[in-house]
Amino acid sequence: MAENTPDRVDMEKIVSLCRRRGIIFPSSEIYGGLSSCWDYGPLGVEIKRNVKEAWWRAMVQERDDVIGVDASILMHPRVWEASGHLEGFSDPLVECKGCHQRWRSDELEGDRCPSCGGELTEPRQFNMMFKTFMGPVEDDASVVYLRPETAQGMFVNFENVLNTTRKRLPFGIAQIGKAFRNEITTGNFIFRSREFELMEMEYFVKPGTDEEWFEYWLEERQNWYINLGIKKEHLRLREHETEELSHYSRRTVDINYLYPMGWAELEGVANRGDFDLSQHASFSGKEISYFDEGTSEHIVPYVVEPAVGVDRIVLAFLCEAYDEEPDKDDIRVVLRFHPDLAPVKVAVLPLSRREPLVEMAKDIYAGLRKCWSVAYDDAQSVGRRYRRQDETGTPLCVTVDFQSLEDNQVTIRERDSMNQIRVPVSELQNTLAAKLAGEDLFVLPPGGQVWLEAEKG
Ligand code: GAP
Repeated sequence: MAENTPDRVDMEKIVSLCRRRGIIFPSSEIYGGLSSCWDYGPLGVEIKRNVKEAWWRAMVQERDDVIGVDASILMHPRVWEASGHLEGFSDPLVECKGCHQRWRSDELEGDRCPSCGGELTEPRQFNMMFKTFMGPVEDDASVVYLRPETAQGMFVNFENVLNTTRKRLPFGIAQIGKAFRNEITTGNFIFRSREFELMEMEYFVKPGTDEEWFEYWLEERQNWYINLGIKKEHLRLREHETEELSHYSRRTVDINYLYPMGWAELEGVANRGDFDLSQHASFSGKEISYFDEGTSEHIVPYVVEPAVGVDRIVLAFLCEAYDEEPDKDDIRVVLRFHPDLAPVKVAVLPLSRREPLVEMAKDIYAGLRKCWSVAYDDAQSVGRRYRRQDETGTPLCVTVDFQSLEDNQVTIRERDSMNQIRVPVSELQNTLAAKLAGEDLFVLPPGGQVWLEAEKG
């Protein structure tokens, strides 16, 4: 993964911005933090929700061949026997005989401990599922696992969904939810943690059409990132070698992103064949199949699965959006988020804290909050307030000044160009909506006027 990435933002800058502006905090920080667990703060939770909503919109809402489910995290333990996770969901672990640190042997570059240079033990397989007990008795019969992937919730519900929706092949079942993996090594901020959120879609197809659908979903998923602002040259595909394929996979291609620490997996697209449905049919003793009306045969569909961690997407979008530019003697930090991802869409800034300006600004604020996530900021100079909003990616600011009291117009200032237009309050909501939907700011509403940053001196 390590590679020189001179044009990429430093991870420390992202971590520091997230900490400073309430995007992401270490978990249980007052107790010194809990390794590889993270809490999303007031702005972070909005970014995360926006990512999930954008995914759900593209994968479910705007399609007629995909529906959603929300399965429980705890599942019958037999699920993990059937899925192969009890047997095969493990990483090779080695331990340093000197300092006793543990490492994933497949990620080590030499054969010595990277921390102290000590000798390492032979690798042994370490199962990454978190184990707990269901009910008050802690014995073998009550062992359950925190799910390491959401996918199994879709497979065990295949018949339920088929029978209640009457979907015909090809169709998909999507889910967003928490997953847990007792990773041996974590790190790179939220890139690899032990508790994370997954977005997965199992697309069931007729055997023989799986390769075609695989290519389709690989393309769709790359376009999703590009449409939300990831540069094409920051994405790269990596085909898995046969020996590294997961136990269920016939083919896997990773969509890698150029993170600050180098190219690393953002999303995986896998061809799971009929592995999961066949395994569950055999372990549960229930028939799991699809009646093909064309051939009058029962078939077991193949599955193409795009799967991605929400936190990895959040990190990718943060890195992609982060920008710094000279600002007189200072530096302007801007998160150039796509409007759909920005945690706050509009900030309302009264020029002064004096009445009746405040009353007008608060009225505007109350009206806009019905449509979007909106901030109200009246502390310090307008220039500083603009910078604060830039740093967290707010696409548009609305400034209410003394002139507004006379002409009932306000100024909209755009984050990226810093250009401004003045619009009647009656046109404000429509103009903001058009701009947030990607329309050119300079298509002015009736009575509006343009101010370019350069002309203001
Ligand atoms: N159901 C298939 C599956 O789980 P995976 O490649 O193991 O496949 C899917 O995981 C995605 O989940 C990865 O591409 C990555 O985005 C994310 N992911 C995996 N492990 C993670 C971790 N420890 N922390 C954060 N995200 C992780």
